[in-house]
Amino acid sequence: MNNNTAVGTAIGKIILMGEHAVVYGEPAMAIPFPTTKIITTIRKEEGPVFIDCFYYKGILPESPERLLGLATIIKDITESFNEKSTSFRINIESTIPPERGMGSSAAVAIATIRALYRFFNRTLTYEKLLEWANVSERIIHGNPSGIDAAVISSETPLYYIKGMLFIPFELKIDGYLIVADTGREGKTKAAVEGVRNIIESNPEEGRRLIEELGILTRTARKFIEINDVNGLGNTMTRTHNILDKLGVSDDNLNKLVNVAIDNNALGAKLTGGGRGGCMIALALNRRQAELISDKLLTNGAQNTWISNLGVDTIEKR
Ligand code: MEV
Repeated sequence: MNNNTAVGTAIGKIILMGEHAVVYGEPAMAIPFPTTKIITTIRKEEGPVFIDCFYYKGILPESPERLLGLATIIKDITESFNEKSTSFRINIESTIPPERGMGSSAAVAIATIRALYRFFNRTLTYEKLLEWANVSERIIHGNPSGIDAAVISSETPLYYIKGMLFIPFELKIDGYLIVADTGREGKTKAAVEGVRNIIESNPEEGRRLIEELGILTRTARKFIEINDVNGLGNTMTRTHNILDKLGVSDDNLNKLVNVAIDNNALGAKLTGGGRGGCMIALALNRRQAELISDKLLTNGAQNTWISNLGVDTIEKR
């Protein structure tokens, strides 16, 4: 028996440290970003499965290439239940800007998997959720590390090593995180391929840069443990410079990183797949965070978000 309506939700994510290096077995740290969200609603409706989302409004069999990951899991999940991929409508609402390194593809998959399991009255384990989300991620990104699906499904800050470790950690540090959207779509797949090309054409230099990213992530973890916000900021900027050398940044991201640093950010870097998408910056107090956010907006950022990473005690001004 199916339900008449079922809803699944998922939040966005921010990679604090370690993007790209995580594909090569180095650690990364990612945090949930609950300010942004996906809501998938499934309703009974006669006829072929109908999808209504940001990119497409139409029937499932005719959905465009960029929805292939989602379309595949919708079909495969219903088949795994011995049900037909027909007679329901899927609505996907999103406040996660798409293709910005905020995990929209994994979040769309996760919200939709949750909704499908509820619609068909099936029990969804955490392992199954991750497995299906990564089926979609592999179709979209080629060779994902799995960090997006892990952090979005667990909704916990994670220290992550591909295929080995998911260690939840507490992100309490006396600082403010500013997230800024360049307003341009990132190109995760192309950036991941670009890094692979560098490693293949110059293995020594490529591996050295990846290892350096790993060292910076381990160092950042220690700085978080001892509440050293300056140290964390410093590792962020150094990470950005290496990602730039690996061809993951672009002029817009570099410009926003420089604007943040010139306005007293303790550190700044791109976040996620890169070549567009978002950057993050760290500030000591709310006043500085607001000033940095204003400067980012007057220098081309399309949107910014500020979150207090501290222990919510007295704000330093
Ligand atoms: C994408 O959010 C993060 C990357 O490291 C790719 C991945 O981990 O699969 C760029």
